[in-house]
Amino acid sequence: MTKKVFLNLGKQPVTNSYLKNLDNLDKEYFYNLKVTYNDKNNLVSLKNFVKPTMMFNSKYAHRASSSKTMQSHFKELSKECKKKIKNINCLEIGSNDGVFIKNFSKKNTIAVEPCSNLANLTNDMGYITYPVFWNQKISNKILNKHGKRNLIFSANTMSHIEDLDEVFTSIKKLLDKDGVFIFEDPYILSVLQTNSYDQFYDEHAHLFSYLSITNLIKKFELRVFDVKILNVHGGSIRFYICHNDGKYKKKRSVSRILNIELKNKINKFQTYKNFANKIRRSKKKLLKILKDIKKSKKLIVGYGATYKSSTIYNYCNINSKLIDYIVDTTKNKQNKFTPGSHIKILSPIKGLHKEIKYIFLAAWNFKKEIINKEINFLKEGGCFITHVPYPRTITLKNVRKEIS
Ligand code: TYD
Repeated sequence: MTKKVFLNLGKQPVTNSYLKNLDNLDKEYFYNLKVTYNDKNNLVSLKNFVKPTMMFNSKYAHRASSSKTMQSHFKELSKECKKKIKNINCLEIGSNDGVFIKNFSKKNTIAVEPCSNLANLTNDMGYITYPVFWNQKISNKILNKHGKRNLIFSANTMSHIEDLDEVFTSIKKLLDKDGVFIFEDPYILSVLQTNSYDQFYDEHAHLFSYLSITNLIKKFELRVFDVKILNVHGGSIRFYICHNDGKYKKKRSVSRILNIELKNKINKFQTYKNFANKIRRSKKKLLKILKDIKKSKKLIVGYGATYKSSTIYNYCNINSKLIDYIVDTTKNKQNKFTPGSHIKILSPIKGLHKEIKYIFLAAWNFKKEIINKEINFLKEGGCFITHVPYPRTITLKNVRKEIS
């Protein structure tokens, strides 16, 4: 067998299915979250994929623009693209609320976004947005109607698509002769190095490495000419891809990343088995910290109703007995309950008050941004709890080294 399971994270709900109330819980959908490694192409994937329409639909809650970090991240990238490519005609696959495309001209930009609530947003902004899933059909339609693209971009979307052959077949056809396909997604090596097992959830059908992407694109006569490791989303990787005969020269970053991946043995099944052992220990440690705090009857508040934390809560059996409630700035998550774990979500204005002394950093990927924003909480004796890279507490005493 080429695909082997190395991690079992148990029964999990659809991360985006926040509940309006706790009636009809028997109807809640769960699937088995198991993670596999494919020793033929080095790709890490879920064993069971959730039906795309169950995850990506008109109720999609996540707004990429809700973080300042992400806004400036995409602004920076758009500047880089404008330097690299003349007369850009851009296509974004999975445009969310327009956080990337808003940096480009409306005339030469096209977007594809299957969540119709989000597609409506960018259509209203003036960007042609097709409210469909990415596949060869929409790719052919764009090719016939708008022509080839010299920039195809996608952030946190490629990893959501089960059939990657379909993706690369369509990209191959739609990409201009000297065009660039740039995409970024969470990076498997960061997951391994930071024990962030919460990067595994329904939407993350795959977690990529340079090795796996190179193996996948070979047969489409595409190649990676540059690659970057990014801090966003808890550690991401960005690929710059062109046709085999495209004009771009291979950058030194490519062999550098390959060496790093081989040194870290991401092509060995044993590495994934070792990771799974660490995750079982991480679960025990986190539960001990939370339960010890609860002995003194103190409130614990979750910071960010993230998709990632859904994996933690459901894998560690954390419910409102351990995390009293969660705060999140996203309006359409507020006053709902988290899937599976059924913890109430409040606005920060309602949920963060002087009595709160313990906050679980569910949005740990924004650790710096959140700690800087909530520095007074620490100054007044508050304490953050995090599980990345290992479960521990963050207080005013040790905060400096956490955010340096
Ligand atoms: P995100 O990082 O996209 O994680 P995931 O992909 O796992 O959902 O989500 C971050 C969530 O945290 C999002 O719902 C917004 C919320 N958030 C706050 O409530 N306050 C903040 O200061 C930040 C940075 C994020």
